[in-house]
Amino acid sequence: MPDHDRDHAPAVETRALRRTFAAPRNRPGAAVEALAGVDVRIERGEIFGLLGPNGAGKTTFIKILTTLLFPTSGEGRVAGHDVVRAAGEVRRRISLISGGESSGYGSLMVRECLWMYSQFYGIPAAIAWPRVDELLAVVGMTEQAHTRINRLSTGQRQRMNFARGFVSDPEVLFMDEPTLGMDVNAARALRGYVARWVRAKAGRTVLLTTHYMAEADELCDRLAIIDRGRVLACDSPAALRRQVQGGQHVELEVSVREGDGTGLPSLDGITAAWGAPHPERGTRTLKFRLPPECPLVDVLRQLEAQGVRVQGVATREASLEDVFIAVVGRGLEDTEVVK
Ligand SMILES: Nc1ncnc2c1ncn2[C@@H]1O[C@H](COP(=O)(O)OP(=O)(O)OP(=O)(O)O)[C@@H](O)[C@H]1O
Ligand SMILES: [Mg+2]
Repeated sequence: MPDHDRDHAPAVETRALRRTFAAPRNRPGAAVEALAGVDVRIERGEIFGLLGPNGAGKTTFIKILTTLLFPTSGEGRVAGHDVVRAAGEVRRRISLISGGESSGYGSLMVRECLWMYSQFYGIPAAIAWPRVDELLAVVGMTEQAHTRINRLSTGQRQRMNFARGFVSDPEVLFMDEPTLGMDVNAARALRGYVARWVRAKAGRTVLLTTHYMAEADELCDRLAIIDRGRVLACDSPAALRRQVQGGQHVELEVSVREGDGTGLPSLDGITAAWGAPHPERGTRTLKFRLPPECPLVDVLRQLEAQGVRVQGVATREASLEDVFIAVVGRGLEDTEVVK
């Protein structure tokens, strides 16, 4: 691809991207298809999210695009550069923040370590030092600037990793569960920073994975819902929510008898799922979408007839979680779905 075309290339583009992992030696025949042909196009300037259950292929996708893993077949491009044939070009333009992992050189101090990363990318000192200090403030670690990395708490180390991702001012920033395990305030502050960072300069792009629906909803311009290595839906959070609208979302708090609580009541034309149990009240949440033609009182009568005692009723707009359940067929956490 000529250079002038690359300037207009999307931030990320994949075609029929596949990755299989060979069967482990003790379980022959059980090869895993982590990515089963993924086509995604992410424009520059977007915050794009990948949402999917454990093992869906999110990390595999990010690893291939960050050149840490080869695809089995298909193609991936970052800023117009092929992730296999032009891995060096790709690496120069990206960075990766992995929430689960904590790296760094233990005996260095936080500020030194961030400086060192800036130097890997050849950032001039007059830009690098103020950037390092700004990022320390952003992640709330100004006071730990001169703390050795091996003395940091897990959360502090994660925040340092987060800062590290921005030090090189990448064109495309990949984040694999960036706020995993962070406290609520830290996560919120860092989400705010990501949103401001992307908008502050044309062409910056973020691809992130998350398990937090609210994070995906709040932050992402578009989302791909993936499961078993396939993209099941891809659109803006609002458009995805519209897909499952046309019915009210109902949450009932119902009494759960001893030894029961896994079987779902059968409801005419309705797919219900168990939500969180409330052991202290002996109840559990039952969630479903109420079809427009079906009055809620009918459902309550059906439940009564099955001996289910309803203690509370809440209705609300469609959420991303509803979309997820509709598309994947199950929830992200301890939600069971019976059709
Ligand atoms: N190195 C590997 N060797 C063998 N199988 C692997 C390897 N890495 C991933 N897998 C398998 O590939 C599939 C996708 O894994 P991946 O880590 O991409 O999922 P994920 O969507 O990131 O999940 P999570 O939400 O748990 O982080 C899983 O079935 C996983 O067991
Ligand atoms: Mg993962």
